[in-house]
Amino acid sequence: MKALILGGGGMLGRKLAESLVADPIAPLERLTLVDAFAAPAPPAGATMPVDCVTADITDPAAVRALIEPRPDLVVHLAAVVSGEAETDLEKGYAINLDGTRNVLDAIRLVGDGYHPRVVFTSSIAVFGAPFPEIIDDEFIPQPLTSYGAQKVMGEMLLSDYSRRGILDGVGLRLPSICVRPGAANKAASGLFSNIIREPLTGHDVVLPAPRSTRHWFASPRSAVGFLRRAATMDTTPLGARRCLNMPGLSATIQDEIDALGRIAGPDCVARIHDEPDELIMSIVAGWPSNFTAARARSLGFAAESSFDEIIRVFVEDELGGVLP
Ligand SMILES: NC(=O)c1ccc[n+]([C@@H]2O[C@H](COP(=O)([O-])OP(=O)(O)OC[C@H]3O[C@@H](n4cnc5c(N)ncnc54)[C@H](O)[C@@H]3O)[C@@H](O)[C@H]2O)c1
Repeated sequence: MKALILGGGGMLGRKLAESLVADPIAPLERLTLVDAFAAPAPPAGATMPVDCVTADITDPAAVRALIEPRPDLVVHLAAVVSGEAETDLEKGYAINLDGTRNVLDAIRLVGDGYHPRVVFTSSIAVFGAPFPEIIDDEFIPQPLTSYGAQKVMGEMLLSDYSRRGILDGVGLRLPSICVRPGAANKAASGLFSNIIREPLTGHDVVLPAPRSTRHWFASPRSAVGFLRRAATMDTTPLGARRCLNMPGLSATIQDEIDALGRIAGPDCVARIHDEPDELIMSIVAGWPSNFTAARARSLGFAAESSFDEIIRVFVEDELGGVLP
């Protein structure tokens, strides 16, 4: 199998590449990692050829050059995230919509029976308030952000190109992936990770939203599991509905803080300082917070069931299992 990861230098791209190298989903002939600004670093221990490429998905010719070797699996993670897509409308549509269309069209233009599996990362931001208490698989996407709108459009393209037999698409509406390692990115949802990661690494952190804020979470380890499952699953049961609400855990910020206290103690919790921010509060108030994800669960997708587990995954995967 030849696999191509677009956005391969990002948080999930790097983790997926490491996972494919450590435990391939199929005999891996070649792995190509692509990112816009710098070539992603190759994962350690790779025994197959790994190409690390700098390319921008808004450039149709560059995308065609990546697709022409006919990768069997295309994992499309390249995107600008929610905060940036909201503040820079042109950039958000150029990358998240036009870039996605470039990828799918490059596949169409290869033709000649080429029919790769394409895994596309959408988001729960495709849903906008007002919400039912629990969002089921029948709830209609109606985003209230540009990022969410761009992701819905990507979903529609993926479904239509799948229906037309151009590719075999699976769209994953990811929960907020938490605890995000490394420096904060421009996703508005970063606060949910910051309040765990920063205290656990010895830093004070500002909490800009009320502790009663509820949201939908899964760990990076679960997200990699979703991508692996989407890459290998039988897509027949999806029919025309190619996009799935991913499983996760519904928790409040207070639930997060309670879990942090149980795992790392009160001194760690004391590093969190409540400083409400009107803008952030208005953004998070419009986010969905609970899903059944029944369809995805029945198709073998699984995530954590407690926030303690999510924190333990961070400690194991990012802190070498050692609490400060
Ligand atoms: N992390 C989350 O909580 C979350 C939640 C829902 C959906 N998603 C989606 O999952 C995907 C991966 O998320 P992530 O957390 O790894 O994001 P990330 O920001 O860490 O990685 C995205 C990568 O895409 C690259 N990229 C941006 N523009 C590009 C372009 N024009 N051409 C090529 N590469 C470009 C970036 O440089 C970055 O390395 C994204 O599509 C994101 O929208 C993530």
